[in-house]
Formats: sequence, structure tokens, C-alpha cells
Amino acid sequence: MMSTVTRPGVILPYYRATRNTFKSLVFPGAMELFTVAGKAELLIYQCCLSFLFPAPAGTRLAHTDIKIPDFSDYRRPEVLDPRKSSQDSSDTRKAFSYMLTGATAVVGVYAAKTVVTQFVTSMSASADVLALSKIEIKLSDIPEGKNMTFKWRGKPLFVRHRTEKEISTEEAVNIGELRDPQHDKERVINPKWVVVIGVCTHLGCVPIANAGDFGGYYCPCHGSHYDASGRIRRGPAPLNLEVPYYEFLDDNTLVVG
Ligand code: FES
Repeated sequence: MMSTVTRPGVILPYYRATRNTFKSLVFPGAMELFTVAGKAELLIYQCCLSFLFPAPAGTRLAHTDIKIPDFSDYRRPEVLDPRKSSQDSSDTRKAFSYMLTGATAVVGVYAAKTVVTQFVTSMSASADVLALSKIEIKLSDIPEGKNMTFKWRGKPLFVRHRTEKEISTEEAVNIGELRDPQHDKERVINPKWVVVIGVCTHLGCVPIANAGDFGGYYCPCHGSHYDASGRIRRGPAPLNLEVPYYEFLDDNTLVVG
């Protein structure tokens, strides 16, 4: 009933055609009321007629006047004919989909690898910082039996040119007697040259070269004695002097760092 009331236009032709016939069948007094209440009359007619003569609720139009665009230029040749089964072209279309998916995956992985590599590289030291982190030393400037001090990464760096006597003495030390056991050969690349960081392992003072009970280094702060290999021999320091990474470019050039 609600649908009929909301669409009075649908049954209006029935209403007009049967209005007079229906009036004559109803007693006169009631029809007067209908005349006064015009809208109520219309509603009652609509209800009755919708039961007696069920009519279609609407009219479906074919919309043949709408021009549908032609997308043939954008379709694949295999699917241009609508009468052909799509199964016939499924292999070709699947191959294209797989190829596109694979290409997208390869590009995505490459892009992700590039982003991660650049991010990690940005956290490492730049070339100018790396250049400052190395020091090149001319060995011919250091006479035999002498120690020279350089500044490297903000710390003192000792480079000692040992004599044959110092070499043989340090190699003969019984490592079982050492606080931080390390053979001389483990601390040097070339026995003639000792390269150590000049920071006492006790509390960080700078030891004095060619001093102390063992002729190597002596820390006056609390009395630590190191030998000519930089090993702790007496005093409160717990460890040997640290040996940094270094290499010999040739017989006369040492690079530390
Ligand atoms: S800092 Fe060298 S002995 Fe204490």
C-alpha cells in the first residue's frame, strides 16, 4: 500500500476511468465526504484499485538513446570478439600478468636494496673523516733506540725503533710471569718497530718513553712500568699498552689506522 500511495501517477489512469462508476456504487452520503476530503478520496481509490487491478510499479526503459563509448582501441586483440570464449586467450593474458608481477617484484626488490644500502652507507664515516683517521709515518726519521710520539685520533702514538738488544731481551721474556701474558711476536709485525698507543692502561696518563725499571715506558702518575714491547711489568696498570692496527706500505713507510 505504501508503494501505491507514494506513486499515485502509476494508478492515476485507473482512477480516472473508474471514478464515476465507483461513485455510483457507494451510498450518496459517503460520497459527499469524499468530495470534501479530496485527498482522502484519492487515497481510498488508490487502495481499492491497487487490489483490484494490480499494475506494474514502473516502466523499464531500454536506454537505447545512450551512446556507449567504443573501447576497442584499448582492448587486446584476443578479446575483441565478444562471441569468442575467454578461455582461448587465457594463456596469453596470464603470461602478461605473470610477467608484469615479476617485473614489479624485481624493481621493488632493487629499489629496497638501494634504499637500505644508501641508508647504511650514510651512517659510516665520510671520506675526509677516514683520511684524518690514518697517519703516515716516515720511519727513516726515527733513529735506532729512540721513541717518537705522534698525535693520532686525539691520542699520543708511540713508535719505537728498537735495538737488537731490546728485541732479543723482549723475545726472551717468560710470558708466564706477565700480568697480561703476551709474547713479543704477538705485538709486533716487524721486531724492529713497536707501535703502541701512549695511554697508560691504569687511569689514562701518558707514560714517559725510555724510562722505568724495564727500559720501555714509565707512567709517573702511579708508578707503572712497561717494557720495550709495551707490556706491563710492574705497578697498578692492569693491561699492556694497546697496539693499534697498522701496516707497512714499504720499508720506510708506516701507516697507522
Ligand atoms: S695512570 Fe699510569 S699508573 Fe696510574
